[in-house]
Amino acid sequence: MKILMNTELVSRSDAKVDIEDRGYQFGDGIYEVIRVYDGEIFTLDEHMERLERSAKEIKITLPCSLSELKERVKELVSVNAVHDGGIYMQVTRGVSARNHLFPGADVKAQLIAYPVPSKRPEELQKSGVEAMTLEDIRWKRCDIKSLNLLGNILAKQEASEADKFEAVMIRDGIVTEGSSTNFYAVKDGTVYTHPANHYILNGITRMKIIEACGHAGIPFEEKGIRAEDLHQYDEVFISSTTIEVMPVIRLDNLEYSGGRPGPVTQSLQKAFRNLLP
Ligand code: PDD
Repeated sequence: MKILMNTELVSRSDAKVDIEDRGYQFGDGIYEVIRVYDGEIFTLDEHMERLERSAKEIKITLPCSLSELKERVKELVSVNAVHDGGIYMQVTRGVSARNHLFPGADVKAQLIAYPVPSKRPEELQKSGVEAMTLEDIRWKRCDIKSLNLLGNILAKQEASEADKFEAVMIRDGIVTEGSSTNFYAVKDGTVYTHPANHYILNGITRMKIIEACGHAGIPFEEKGIRAEDLHQYDEVFISSTTIEVMPVIRLDNLEYSGGRPGPVTQSLQKAFRNLLP
C-alpha cells in the first residue's frame, strides 16, 4: 500500500511517525474521512475545504495548496486502486520538543493520508439501529474536525457496551450530534437538525442531505431539538460519510415508526443515493 506523506507517495513500511509529533503528544491536529464510490472520490472539494477551515481555526499551515493536495489524493486513490472504500487523512502541527506552545515557523505540518476499508452498511440501513443519549462533555469547538476525540470515543464506547450503535449527545438539554455522526429528527414530514454552529461538526453528509431534501421536496429546518421533546418526533436518523443516512429505530426507551425505518428517512436514503457517483 502507498501512503501520502505530505506531498510524496511512500510505501507503508517507510511511513514513520516521530515520537515528538504533536499529533501523537497533544492530539494537536485535524483530520478528514473521505468516501470513494466506484473509484470516484465523493465530495473531495467539500472535504478539502473543511480541512482548510479546520487548519485555519487552529492556526496550522497545510503543507501544500488545496489544489495540489487534491491531485495527490487522486493519485493515492489511483495508485492503490481504491474502488469502494475510504481515505483517512490527518494533519498535525508537526514535530518538535514537547512544549504546549506552538513551535516556530520552521516546524512544518505533517500530513498523512491512506486508504481504509469502508463498505456501505446496507443491512443496517434497511433495518435501522438503536442509540442512547449521553451528556455531551466535549469542548465548545466541535465544528473543528480535531484529532482530540476523547469525548467522542468515551461516548461511543459507552454506547457500544450497552449494545447501542451510537451515542446521541445532549448539551444543556439540546441534542447536538452523535459521537461520530450528525443527528436529525422528523416531525410531520419536516426534517430538523442542530444548526451548524460551534457545537457540532458541519458534516459533509449533512450538507448533501440538505441538498437531497431539496430534490425530494422534503422541508428541512435547522433548530435545536430539545431532549425532552424527543418523544414527539415521528422518525430519527443519523448520518456520516461512512454510514450515509442511517435510521434510528430506538433511542433510549423511545421507539420510532414501529421499530422500522420511517417513510421520510427512507425517501431521504433514496434521494441521497441518487447523489452518489
Ligand atoms: N465522523 N459529527 C461528528 C462528531 C463526526 O465525527 C462526523 C464524522 C460527523 C459526520 O461528518 P461527515 O458527514 O462529514 O462524515 C458528524 C467521521 C466519519 C469519523 O470520525 O470517522
